[in-house]
Amino acid sequence: MRIIQASDYNDLSRKAANVIAAQVIIKPDCVLGLATGSTPLGTYKELIERYERGDLDFSCVKSVNLDEYRGLTKDNDQSYYYFMHNNLFKHINIHPENTNVPDGTEPDSHKECTRYEQIIQSLGGIDLQLLGLGHNGHIGFNEPDESFAPVTHCVNLTESTIDANKRFFASAGDVPRQAYTMGIGTIMKASRILLAVSGEDKAQILKDVVFGPVTPQVPASVLQLHKDVIVVADEAAMSKF
Ligand code: GLP
Repeated sequence: MRIIQASDYNDLSRKAANVIAAQVIIKPDCVLGLATGSTPLGTYKELIERYERGDLDFSCVKSVNLDEYRGLTKDNDQSYYYFMHNNLFKHINIHPENTNVPDGTEPDSHKECTRYEQIIQSLGGIDLQLLGLGHNGHIGFNEPDESFAPVTHCVNLTESTIDANKRFFASAGDVPRQAYTMGIGTIMKASRILLAVSGEDKAQILKDVVFGPVTPQVPASVLQLHKDVIVVADEAAMSKF
């Protein structure tokens, strides 16, 4: 793991955007794995600014998102499709047909997860996967478990994740109980992984991820086994190092 320390959230967003921008410049038709949550918002703003300045061209880029809530439609303002459209895609010149988010409205989870895994394969795999970190160590929606999930699958969200994400919904009761997510195996096949972590509330879990045992109880700890991981974290997130 390569660890890049940022002074604060803005610095983290710039540094994470630098890595993604470098990928897009070096390989204009790359496949970007993208993430949702609060952490990548600043990174996406930075990428939009660089696009507007004429420094980045997304016209040949393809994207695959990590996950989606099961049951939410694309026009639901809490769906990850909606998040990606509003926080990134509509502001840059990526072609909508080149963007992929699991379809939360497909009731047949096996069918949707198989379809999504095949999309990633047909694109030739992910060049750079951006990840945030859940408070319980989850990546995508891979919750702490007895084993590492190999492929895209349907998960039952843990109470801690529902609690962490309820801030975006009218009430905790409105947070979907299930999601479709890339598996740990899917994520680990990406050529390069960028993990962005911000805030003191993530300090203990980040320490566990980087220095603790590799265990499916801390899903992101598996990243220790990947050959090309960049962790960008701010001082607050690194305060327990
Ligand atoms: C959600 C997403 C994750 C994300 C996590 C952390 O649960 N499924 O992909 O990493 O939240 O989000 P935040 O960056 O808001 O802390």
